[in-house]
Amino acid sequence: MKLICDLPSPKSLPDKYVLPPEKRPCDNELRDDLSVALPVIDLRGAMGDGRRQVIGEIMEAGKEFGFFQVVNHGVEEDVIQGFREAAAEFFRMPEEAKLKYYSNEPNNPFRVFSGSVTSHTDTNDIRYWRDCLKLRCYPVDKLMHHWPLEPEIFRERLAKYAVEVQDLARRLLRLIAEGLGLDDQFFEGDLTGGETVMNVNYYPSCPNPSLTLGIRPHSNRYILTILSQGDVSGLQVKQKGRWIGVQPIDNAFVVNFGLQLEMVTNGVLTSVEHRVVTNSAKARMSVATLIRPNMECMIGPAQVMVDGDTNPPKYRDFTGSELIEAYETTAGNREALLEMFRIHHTKSC
Ligand code: OGA
Repeated sequence: MKLICDLPSPKSLPDKYVLPPEKRPCDNELRDDLSVALPVIDLRGAMGDGRRQVIGEIMEAGKEFGFFQVVNHGVEEDVIQGFREAAAEFFRMPEEAKLKYYSNEPNNPFRVFSGSVTSHTDTNDIRYWRDCLKLRCYPVDKLMHHWPLEPEIFRERLAKYAVEVQDLARRLLRLIAEGLGLDDQFFEGDLTGGETVMNVNYYPSCPNPSLTLGIRPHSNRYILTILSQGDVSGLQVKQKGRWIGVQPIDNAFVVNFGLQLEMVTNGVLTSVEHRVVTNSAKARMSVATLIRPNMECMIGPAQVMVDGDTNPPKYRDFTGSELIEAYETTAGNREALLEMFRIHHTKSC
């Protein structure tokens, strides 16, 4: 077993990463497409007079793109860069030090894997150009004993980052709840009470970006994802049938809605497909923090979001565990997953 970052600089793409032609990115999709920029929302005003405006911007961006970037979000630059350095140092450690953590068991609270093998159900032969450190990061006190002691700075830096990003998620979810006409604490408690998961994605520079991807097209499963993408582009979001690149902005976070939120809002907010393309010039590292529900809690369209006759619930209730299972069965395919929970109303004459 080898991580991609430990391969001795390959001159051509090893066969197992070569995607079938219909799954490869087109040449024009490998250039940064700057014609449609994702909305960038300044959160500075959110605690004062500007609150209504910020909420309006989030709702608009959420409905149109399912994605937006936030700046002046209150997470200190030192905390972001501090953890990014520690994570980059992890990937620079000698191969044996990283492979100690290698596992394809999805329930491990700290593991390294490669080629985007995401779980035991991922049995197809397609491999992607990504190494990943997947861990549970919040609540910190309960989980930090699973984190590595090397590099030395890792635990302390991750603890700070996880607490601040969790707080940002809580603040954003309050704004989203208000925007939807829900109680501002609607998402607090079980809907976001599971252990938060983090993917530290490492995409080494790739000998042939036109033949592969870093991550396949997928929607995220839970409520909200908060992503630090650093200064190398690669993330692409599907909008009106085409892939648009998310421009890196210093210390910004990319926020996107998950399938759980789409179903809780009865389809008002959408969970949009995204993927990652590679590049031949530089390695890219992103840190995705995924806010999760309690596995046992019942999830379904919020009462306020439905109305018996005119706007009946589009989805049935389900538990957090069912959501995870459905996601594995459908390999993150948005339509297939939503269909598993969709209620088909028959029109009465
Ligand atoms: C993910 C993801 C995007 C990125 O971790 O699921 O979509 O930019 N990451 O790495």
